[in-house]
Amino acid sequence: MRLSRRLRAALLGAGLALAVAPLAAACAPVTVGFQGEVEARWELEPRTRSLSVARGEIFETLIRVHNRSAQEVVAMVVKEIRPEQAAGAVVHLGCGPTFTLVLKPGEVVAVPAAYFIAEDVAQQVEAFEIAYTVYSFEPHSLDPLQVGQRLYAERCVSCHGLQARGDGPTGRLLAGGVGDLTPALRQKEDRILLQAIGDGVGPMPAFAPALSAAELQALVAYLRELGRRVP
Ligand code: HEC
Repeated sequence: MRLSRRLRAALLGAGLALAVAPLAAACAPVTVGFQGEVEARWELEPRTRSLSVARGEIFETLIRVHNRSAQEVVAMVVKEIRPEQAAGAVVHLGCGPTFTLVLKPGEVVAVPAAYFIAEDVAQQVEAFEIAYTVYSFEPHSLDPLQVGQRLYAERCVSCHGLQARGDGPTGRLLAGGVGDLTPALRQKEDRILLQAIGDGVGPMPAFAPALSAAELQALVAYLRELGRRVP
């Protein structure tokens, strides 16, 4: 099984050891269907798609969320496994079964999601469907600091720690460790921080593919606030 660097980083980000996916025994593949939604105000892609995957193997999908409205919105998307009996066999890596995005009018964001099918429980499961549902699609009225704080808790704290000191639970497991981020938060320009977050650094995954421009800005705003607050 080959893992991309990004996926390795995503696994670390999710606090999961790489030992999670042992090589699949030679057994029948599983068919996975994907289904999105379309409404006047939004569109989720793929609308429908089907994929055949080996048990125990990690597979990656890309969900595109398109804001078709004329407003900046917060979209909350829920992934659901159907039928329910199959849910236990499918493990979400990286971003969990629910995620939110802040989208500018007309913006499209592609969110990568990785899964694998647990071998032990999967024996009875031949086919299942991953359905994406837009749970809410509201005008965006949140303070960027609040958005940044939520995103930091979801995506960054595992490595960087609550106060950006590099002492998050996953960060401590990384071979080279994670440095104290706070000096950079006080000294470096927005442009440099945005680039690091967007493109990734070493084991840190690139977040540009998964977050909107407004969300990247919100993260920087929150990081600045942390830089000021932390002694
Ligand atoms: C898998 C662990 C991991 C995750 C998750 C992670 N980072 Fe990092 N990050 C690192 C490492 C390692 C570095 C390299 C520098 C260091 O050791 O501090 C780094 C560097 C950075 C830098 C550059 C610092 C500089 O000096 O230029 C910024 C900014 C940053 N991370 C922000 C974030 C934000 C924001 C998130 C969440 C959206 C995040 N990181 C998620 C591990 C991680």
